[in-house]
Amino acid sequence: TVSLNMAAKAAGKLYFGSATDNPELTNEAYVAILNDTAMFGQLTPANSMKWDAIEPEQNVFNFTGGDQIVALAEQTGKIMRGHNLVWYSQLPDWVAYGNWTPETLTSVIQTHVTTEVSHYKGKIYAWDVINEPFNDNGTFRTDVFYNTLNSSYISIALNAAHAADPDAMLYINEYNLEYSGPKIDAMVQLVKDLKAEGAPIDGIGIESHFILGEVSATELQANMEALTALGVDVAITELDDRIELPATDADLEQQKTDYQTIVGVCMAVSGCVGVTVWDYTDEYSWIPSSFPGYGEACPWDENLVRKPAYDGIAMAF
Ligand code: XIL
Repeated sequence: TVSLNMAAKAAGKLYFGSATDNPELTNEAYVAILNDTAMFGQLTPANSMKWDAIEPEQNVFNFTGGDQIVALAEQTGKIMRGHNLVWYSQLPDWVAYGNWTPETLTSVIQTHVTTEVSHYKGKIYAWDVINEPFNDNGTFRTDVFYNTLNSSYISIALNAAHAADPDAMLYINEYNLEYSGPKIDAMVQLVKDLKAEGAPIDGIGIESHFILGEVSATELQANMEALTALGVDVAITELDDRIELPATDADLEQQKTDYQTIVGVCMAVSGCVGVTVWDYTDEYSWIPSSFPGYGEACPWDENLVRKPAYDGIAMAF
């Protein structure tokens, strides 16, 4: 049968990839599949490039975990998505609860972004510079960054990243952009505003944490096209499709349809550069712990056996 990255590239996409996390890399059977570059042409670190991992204390940087995943990508000829630079979550307390002025927080953001992006200069295809800036109602999330700097923190971070690695593609990554509504509208407006002010914005990541049977190809495609019409790329950055447990055979068939539909939409939009699953196996999915009662969201099961969803993806390319 067809390997997914090979199929994606043959169909004109840049990659089919997976998230992975450092503790998983001791599982040899898992790594054997991950390292197959015909299957996965791109990696995203699920945790080890986040602020709490990289700069746990002010001006104390630890690149160990991120370096391990970059090294694996280099050894196996894969491209990297860097994830992420500025996010309200997995943010160390020293940032989240600091007593900042606009000037001091600007400097903190610039130091963090410049140091991390410089460390990985030339090794990262695309950075999620900003992660999840919006509430579902389309207002900006009132985290420490917005509360101190208003939305200016976004261009501050983008400009710092661009100066540190001018060749990296700079993304804003967000969930619930898969449907029509105020959140996609807000993202479209933000891209327009950033473009108007000359900020370096190259792409929007559409996370794509779906619930079984709740895929709208029409809305997903319209949203991707609304973004690419503004001159940015889009990517499916964190794909999974969670099932309310226990999963039936019918559920797994619906999941196959869902995966085929979602990847098919990326195929239909020329500005959609690639698809990343938020880990490839149910063994390491974030879903059961974050959404109790749900699971089996990935295209491989917990024994590393391909599910019908795998064939759904293969059929879409
Ligand atoms: C998740 C990781 O997969 C988990 O291991 C961690 O405990 C929490 O974060 N949106 C994102 C990702 O942008 O960074 C999140 O990753 C999943 C939701």
